[in-house]
Amino acid sequence: LAKYKIISFGLGQIGRSIAKLVLSRPEEFELIGAIDTDPELVGKDISELLFLPRRTGIRVRPVGEDLVASADAILDATSSFLSDSIDHLLNFCEEGVDVVSTCEELSYPWLSHKEEAERLDAASRKNGVTLLGAGVNPGFVMDALAITLSGACAKVSKVNATRVLDASKRRLSFQKKVGIGMTPDEFETQLKSGTFGHVGLSESIAMTCAAMGVGVDKVEQRVEPKIAEGPLNTEHFGRLSKGSVIGLIQDAKGYANGKEVANYHIQMYVDAEDPRDEIELLGEPPIKLMIPGGTPGDPATAAIIVNSVPRVVEAQPGLMTLKDLRPAASLMAP
Ligand SMILES: NC(=O)c1ccc[n+]([C@@H]2O[C@H](COP(=O)([O-])OP(=O)(O)OC[C@H]3O[C@@H](n4cnc5c(N)ncnc54)[C@H](OP(=O)(O)O)[C@@H]3O)[C@@H](O)[C@H]2O)c1
Repeated sequence: LAKYKIISFGLGQIGRSIAKLVLSRPEEFELIGAIDTDPELVGKDISELLFLPRRTGIRVRPVGEDLVASADAILDATSSFLSDSIDHLLNFCEEGVDVVSTCEELSYPWLSHKEEAERLDAASRKNGVTLLGAGVNPGFVMDALAITLSGACAKVSKVNATRVLDASKRRLSFQKKVGIGMTPDEFETQLKSGTFGHVGLSESIAMTCAAMGVGVDKVEQRVEPKIAEGPLNTEHFGRLSKGSVIGLIQDAKGYANGKEVANYHIQMYVDAEDPRDEIELLGEPPIKLMIPGGTPGDPATAAIIVNSVPRVVEAQPGLMTLKDLRPAASLMAP
């Protein structure tokens, strides 16, 4: 087995899960560095952040130190948005390092961020590196999995997907992102900022349809708050009264040539009933897949990011999406 030298970039909850997974697979990976902007984290041995019994000797470094070029791959877990990420992604290209990122907008930037996609693609090709945006969703449930299933259909006319998750079981930054604890007015204000709610539905739809040979012209989205019907206790936000926001419901429809080709639905709120992932392909033959309980978001994201390292290292240079690479696979542990 090749052993890949890894740098973890961004050490929030997801970056830490990624770093921990890398350290737990020493036959395949060597963690050679960890980088974050947070002054609270810089200087700490990564074992402190990961609650490991022994020091690793790897201290969190600030951005800008001369470290990146020695890695085979850098695993970026900093932001959902390309506006935040494009500078460091371009830097990594110049340093000649392959990248796997949790940035939702990077998972398929060709529909909504074409200019950034072209810049990143050109920079990665020029420097001989591969860039990939991945994660549980976007990146797996509502795109890679749907694409894989479609291989068993002679024809697909439409893709429907549903993901229902109990937001109380997710990390704090996720719970904030879905509005738990807000008033309905605060939720509306956040929504108008344009950086609120689940990021990635239009990317998932566009990637899935592109893999099936259809260019999506537009994706229409609607986000609504889920309101508490009575008082309830939460781990991070204390007791919420009736009328508080406890999460969100988000719908997206994708159109190609005026025809609806995808209908995606997400429910992410406290105590959501019957958590599950569902993919339904209308076509010949129709296929429906359900994952009872749903794919566990945070560990699955860390796994997909880490398991994608061999894929980006072996891939041709360029900005890739999950539809372009061999599916990431885990190693079977005896
Ligand atoms: N595709 C998917 O399925 C998927 C799944 C899970 C998560 N994600 C995304 O992955 C990202 C990370 O998740 P998280 O919950 O761990 O987020 P988080 O709690 O916000 O942590 C991000 C960390 O990165 C640091 N950071 C921010 N900008 C940086 C930069 N330019 N350079 C270096 N460090 C930087 C932050 O430091 P400061 O605190 O100082 O800002 C923070 O420590 C989020 O955007 C999330 O939406 C995607």
